[in-house]
Amino acid sequence: MKWLQPSHFLKIESGKLIFWDYEKHQQFELSIEHLQRLIEFSKGTQPQKTPIDKEISEAEVLVNSEPHKKWAWDWLSHIFHYGTQHPLPPDSDASTEKSDEYAASYLEFCASIRHSMPEVEIIKGGKRIPLPDFDSEELENTSLWSSLSSRRTCRDFDGKPVPIKKIATLLYCAFAEVNTKTDLPDLSVYGYKRTSPSAGGLQSTEPYLWAINIEGLAPGIYHYLSQRHELEYIDELPKKSLGAYLCNQNWANEMAFAIVMTSRFDKMWWKYPHSRAYRPMLMEIGHFSQTLNLGITALGLKPWLTGYFHDRELGEALACSPEIEHPILVVGGGTGSGNSVDTATQKIIKKER
Ligand SMILES: Cc1cc2nc3c(=O)[nH]c(=O)nc-3n(C[C@H](O)[C@H](O)[C@H](O)COP(=O)(O)O)c2cc1C
Repeated sequence: MKWLQPSHFLKIESGKLIFWDYEKHQQFELSIEHLQRLIEFSKGTQPQKTPIDKEISEAEVLVNSEPHKKWAWDWLSHIFHYGTQHPLPPDSDASTEKSDEYAASYLEFCASIRHSMPEVEIIKGGKRIPLPDFDSEELENTSLWSSLSSRRTCRDFDGKPVPIKKIATLLYCAFAEVNTKTDLPDLSVYGYKRTSPSAGGLQSTEPYLWAINIEGLAPGIYHYLSQRHELEYIDELPKKSLGAYLCNQNWANEMAFAIVMTSRFDKMWWKYPHSRAYRPMLMEIGHFSQTLNLGITALGLKPWLTGYFHDRELGEALACSPEIEHPILVVGGGTGSGNSVDTATQKIIKKER
């Protein structure tokens, strides 16, 4: 008796039916006869001595016992988790030759893709707005430990303005080009350096400023040009509030600003054209988020963050082209009580007491 292994999906494309084995990263074109047999194998059946069963056996998509997988999330998350795992076991020997071979093949790979490198900088073409110079004083006077230990997610903002000087310092501290002058050898010829690490040195994370109440800057949506320390104007604030874009997390409307981070998928696809690249893309944004959270705290403001929003509409508000970039995480800030409980929830709690 044999069963069909469970880590697969079927895709219909260009008139073909494709069986996709996402653990072994194999794809097969199916005929209706193959499909019928696979349905039988999904319930458990004895392989027959037929050409189709022979092909199915050779494809290594059958297992010897009925699969019982405990997976509490839906099947899409299973596809993402297992489909992005490394398909091969570790090499058995870690010899010098292997290291030399690996170094040579990495350099060769980098050289082979250089000609098709996407633009490092994305420019949308809006009016340029110069920013005040980066002022390190407040950051230097706050210890790392003080920022770490006092950082706390706030959901109770007071709607007061924040001066543009602080926003300029925050954007610079998290996203500006820094650390480039060093004598150490560096392969990151594709991008540049920031204060946070970046997957593949690509600097795929792109910052947008949703300016709600910033002293010295008109409300609107702006793009931060990391290598120039300038803003470019995207659009005025939409009629719907920020809270509406963020799935009714309406305390966000009382923040002074939000920084929406998109990821440049074109950069990630270029250097890492496989599904696993989705992981470092998310992880890179997480690193920038923590830099922003600590920066906001060190500047005497309260931070908040969310990954919960209406993806398509938020991307449209930032004028993102879906072939290039997508919003992934929002980190905002302002002044307020610092309470992690928003006022609407506070009211309910008070009534219940
Ligand atoms: C990736 C990520 C996504 C988050 N998304 C939300 C969110 O959608 N809404 C929200 O109010 N808080 C969100 N948070 C904040 C957490 O709720 C918060 O960090 C947690 O309650 C711990 O509190 P602390 O940050 O004060 O230590 C998120 C945090 C992370 C790291």
